[in-house]
Amino acid sequence: MLCLGIETSCDDTGLALVEDGMPVHSTLYGQAEIHDIFGGVVPELASREHYRLIGCLFDRLLEESGKKASDIDYVCAARGPGLLGSLLVGTSFAKGLALGLGCPFLGINHLHAHILVNAVENDLPYPFLALLASGGHTVLYRVESPARFIMLGKCLDDAAGEILDKIGKFLGMPYPAGRYIDELSGDCSGSLKLPQPYLINDNLDFSFSGLKTAALQYLKGLENQPAWNGTSNLDGAEYLELKNFCFAFNHAVVETLVAKTLRAFQRNDDIRAMVIAGGVAANKMLRARFKGLAGHIGRTFICPAPHLCADNGIMIAMAGCLLARLGFRHDFEMEAIPKGRKMPDDFYKIF
Ligand code: KG4
Ligand code: ZN
Repeated sequence: MLCLGIETSCDDTGLALVEDGMPVHSTLYGQAEIHDIFGGVVPELASREHYRLIGCLFDRLLEESGKKASDIDYVCAARGPGLLGSLLVGTSFAKGLALGLGCPFLGINHLHAHILVNAVENDLPYPFLALLASGGHTVLYRVESPARFIMLGKCLDDAAGEILDKIGKFLGMPYPAGRYIDELSGDCSGSLKLPQPYLINDNLDFSFSGLKTAALQYLKGLENQPAWNGTSNLDGAEYLELKNFCFAFNHAVVETLVAKTLRAFQRNDDIRAMVIAGGVAANKMLRARFKGLAGHIGRTFICPAPHLCADNGIMIAMAGCLLARLGFRHDFEMEAIPKGRKMPDDFYKIF
């Protein structure tokens, strides 16, 4: 079965073909440069860019993969959560295509797809525990099947990626700043300590706003505020200060995620595997720390290849493939769901 996946939930236009669970080819266009001057994603610009590019990316996908549109068996598109205007571009394109080709259409939960992309390189051992950390979400799930995700905890304010981006912006880094903080966090003394927020409670939710405030207060209190300048043109002391801060900040984010994930394991002791996903899962400190944690508690550790952590079409096609195998599809009445609205469980089954 050949599944087409279309991702347009935020600022990346990604299309991919997955055949019987194996990626065939993908095309991706990121808009980071366009939004960088505004310091964050501008929804109207994002949807216009998706609209401008989606047709060309589809043509290129077919040309480069050697497939024909008529080879496609299932058309899948991210239905949310995300920016509504952006989602409408991808879902409308997908519905039109499915209608034209006479094949089933399937709307995909973007958050679940981040996690299910791990099936590209692994046989996912259900049930497993999954941490999704991206620019818009921080969520802990117990995953029972590709269609059954039980949310154990979520972010009450800024997501993990969002505070990395906000503090990075304050430091003068380009948007999105997570990877620059990651790059500067390596080999550091670790003398500075920042608080690990929202741990003194009994739940599995996250709240990073306290860490953001503590980090900003620390930076504003410094005599010479360190500023990112392409990492090269900084003098020794300022560079060291910046590295020291990035290490401490990254460390506080990672340890907070680790603490709640460990707590989730303690409450789900039948689970044998830990999966991480989302843009922040590309973070080197986070990957190393979670791998260590899994080894320590005797669980299998699964993470996506770094290029599959950020938004892409493969994750939508892969999730689509897994759900299609179970017989799920949507009709054309399916709505796109913006961030903040509950995702309806409105699939129907063809067998
Ligand atoms: O999953 P994603 O591509 O988009 C959303 O669905 O939000 O995640 C984007 C987020 C951004 O906040 C970005 O700064 C962060 O992932 N990110 C990273 C790294 N690479 C991307 N954060 C930490 N370390 C990285 N290496
Ligand atoms: Zn995402």
